[in-house]
Amino acid sequence: MLFRKLALAAATAFAPVRADDEDKGQSLFVTDDGALAFAFTVPGNGVDLAFSLRVKRSYSWGAVGIGSNDMPGALYFMIYQNLDRDNVTFSPRVTYSNVEPFYFDEPEFQVLPGTGVDSEYMTFTARCLSHCRSWPARGGAGGTIDVSDANQKAIFALGPKEGFASDNVEQNLKIHSRYGRFTLNMKRTRDVEDNPEIGSNPKMDGATLDFSKSGYSDIKSTMHAVLMILGICALMPLGALMLRLGGWVRAHALNQTIAMIFVLAGFGLGVATSFTYQRSMHFKSYHQIVGIIVVAFILAQFTIGFLHHKKFKDTQHPTIYGKVHVWLGRIIIFLGVLNAFFGLTFALNRRYGIVLAGLMIFIILGVFAATIGRRWMTKNRRMRQGDPLAGGSTPYGHTQPWRQPPPPAAGGSSMYPDDPPPGYEPPTQQDQIGLRPVSPWRSNSERKDDDDVPNLGSAQTPREFT
Ligand SMILES: *[C@@H]1O[C@H](CO)[C@@H](O)[C@H](O)[C@H]1NC(C)=O
Repeated sequence: MLFRKLALAAATAFAPVRADDEDKGQSLFVTDDGALAFAFTVPGNGVDLAFSLRVKRSYSWGAVGIGSNDMPGALYFMIYQNLDRDNVTFSPRVTYSNVEPFYFDEPEFQVLPGTGVDSEYMTFTARCLSHCRSWPARGGAGGTIDVSDANQKAIFALGPKEGFASDNVEQNLKIHSRYGRFTLNMKRTRDVEDNPEIGSNPKMDGATLDFSKSGYSDIKSTMHAVLMILGICALMPLGALMLRLGGWVRAHALNQTIAMIFVLAGFGLGVATSFTYQRSMHFKSYHQIVGIIVVAFILAQFTIGFLHHKKFKDTQHPTIYGKVHVWLGRIIIFLGVLNAFFGLTFALNRRYGIVLAGLMIFIILGVFAATIGRRWMTKNRRMRQGDPLAGGSTPYGHTQPWRQPPPPAAGGSSMYPDDPPPGYEPPTQQDQIGLRPVSPWRSNSERKDDDDVPNLGSAQTPREFT
């Protein structure tokens, strides 16, 4: 003990600088699995700081923020693979709230050896010559570091584990899958002139982990996609089929109302997600603009469908609302499906577009199969019943004028199969005797009860729409 004290006194007496430097050296933070490592020094000589950041290449991006234990106010050093995947792209960033940081071009960096990629890691090593000790606030919490502090706040984050490469320093990102807070001893790194370095087996040194979380993802964004795709790409076309093939008015209304609720919930989540990312927080992208239009159309569609139904019940005649409803429905589904693809690209999930495209092809084939099957069944039933019209070139005969293509003279106003062509005349007495069971207008007007009663069995069911 005495010997030790003496030795220390001697050291102090003969080499005061060395004694003071006993604990000096770079500070190094590393996650428990080595996925992210960060070595830091304050070299002096007018250099703000120096660092080396190493990230496992299986992560899309990695970043360390200094000067804060929260996102706002930190200065971020972020890296990802360059487009050729033979080097790194370095992107210094800042943010003023808890949202995706944006590129910040004021600091001046001098890239050092040790920058590049190997089979497992990407590494960026540099000196910062200016603007790395304080950076602007712009209304948020301003950022500074105190390089003589032994407990400086810092944070880290890793993007999702997926292939990612870009040369763009302003590249849009997905939210982090892991993040955490740590404390960095900057004091002990002062005047350490050796370049910061991360060895092959880095150990925590002059840094402590305060908090970390993994398995994080943007659930709002995922739920937005799930609800919208279910609502618009699946339920809405299904609801259209319910009317077209089954004439199930009530089921149609119920299904489309559920689909609309999905869409409105999805819309809320989409708006909430938008505030998280630089690319979406200004509501200027195609996906967002088209999305807002589609949601407005859906609300209008609900109202129009309701108005049509009310009027149809009174008059038993096609209404202008009905026509608008059919066309607006087609536009909604078309724009909605298109926007689903835009949205997947917007969320940097373009590869899921293939899955969605597969789903859409499946649905379209299903619709074709259902339509053809329906016709075939109707024709067969007629044949079995000895219906003389069954074998004709127009399988539905003139008893179903709303199913015939408009005659050439009909003009644009008769695009809708449930519109009797202008030339249509009520069936003659003889026709009525022969075809009474399948005559739409008669059976309709004869029916006293609600026309909503689902009628699965007959293609001759009076239709409000096609
Ligand atoms: C890697 O990129 C850095 C800039 O980020 C550059 O300074 C360095 O020269 C590049 N290295 C190679 C081998 O291209």
